[in-house]
Amino acid sequence: MTGKRIMLDVLGGETVFPPPIWMMRQAGRYLPEYRETRKRAGGFLDLCYNPDLAVEVTLQPIERFGFDASILFSDILVVPHALGRGVAFEEGRGPVLTPITAAEVGELDAEAFHVNLAPVYETVRRLRKKLPDETTLIGFCGAPWTVATYMIAGHGTPDQAPARLFAYREPQAFARLLRILAEQSAAYLIRQIEAGADAVQIFDSWSGVLDEACFEAFCVEPVAEIVRRVHAVHPNVPVIGFPKGAGHRYSGYRQKTGIQGLGLDWTVPLAAARDLQRGGAVQGNLDPLRLVAGGKALSEGVDAILRALGDGPLIFNLGHGITPETPIAHVEAMVRQVRSIQG
Ligand code: CP3
Repeated sequence: MTGKRIMLDVLGGETVFPPPIWMMRQAGRYLPEYRETRKRAGGFLDLCYNPDLAVEVTLQPIERFGFDASILFSDILVVPHALGRGVAFEEGRGPVLTPITAAEVGELDAEAFHVNLAPVYETVRRLRKKLPDETTLIGFCGAPWTVATYMIAGHGTPDQAPARLFAYREPQAFARLLRILAEQSAAYLIRQIEAGADAVQIFDSWSGVLDEACFEAFCVEPVAEIVRRVHAVHPNVPVIGFPKGAGHRYSGYRQKTGIQGLGLDWTVPLAAARDLQRGGAVQGNLDPLRLVAGGKALSEGVDAILRALGDGPLIFNLGHGITPETPIAHVEAMVRQVRSIQG
């Protein structure tokens, strides 16, 4: 190994055989060592804000599988938390936030934002020192729309009806919320880059529930704003966008937002993915449940992606986060299969 970060080459538009591989949510509950550290941490947010333990869980999947990239261990909801909103993670329920009202949008307080997030920056600094040279370190944030859905509803919902209604009924407060989130998220990513992140990913997990006009205004524009701000300071740091569920709107997303890597969910047809790959690197897009099932479902899914996308700039990944019930042996089999591809 020469210490070359091949994922950065791919983000620059190069084709690399075999392609770099990592998994969204690669540090998580499917790993017994994660569950053990998680118990010692106390609450989930305590884990995110404890650099000793956050470094430990970030490194676990790298040590076990030798992935080409490591993603900072944190959560997209530390941003509203650092803006003074109530955020808690309840066992078996996921995130619970104090729902924000239109009036409260004007009271969001960014004064202590970076002080509150200092432990995250410290985690990034330590990670860059501890990771193997050839491992790309990815920082991340949630996209303003996805973070806003949790801030408004106070929890996950299947269709984000509370946030969509808020946007229609309170357009000014909603636009202001997206603006604040875009500004603060950009500043957050810039600090992560300055602490040592080689690339950053913007997760828009709920972009699939919006109509055309709302997708442009709530997903495309705020992400484009974040990319502009990050690139104004760090023009050479690649940004990966992940507009999950964007469907037809995947086409045009790269150009309109200015991202370098396009994260594909597993519903994107591979022929469409090939077209998208003409514009630059794509990342994805194995159905995480193929990884749970293993066997033929897994090997056929991996093979189809490598055949369709292997001769262009590809970062092999899942089409969404790995789920807790995934057997570790299946992850090992996937990594073996991807790394045995013949160029
Ligand atoms: O990928 C990684 O390994 C880095 C860490 C990471 C986490 N969350 C850790 C986490 C990242 C990149 C995220 C992003 C995130 N968080 C997103 C966007 C990506 C996606 O999955 O759509 C979203 C929407 C969230 C908000 C969030 N955090 C939810 C809805 C939940 C509950 C669902 C669940 O899986 O339990 C979380 C909790 C969470 N974030 C866990 C982990 C490992 C599990 C909590 C635990 O360990 O108790």
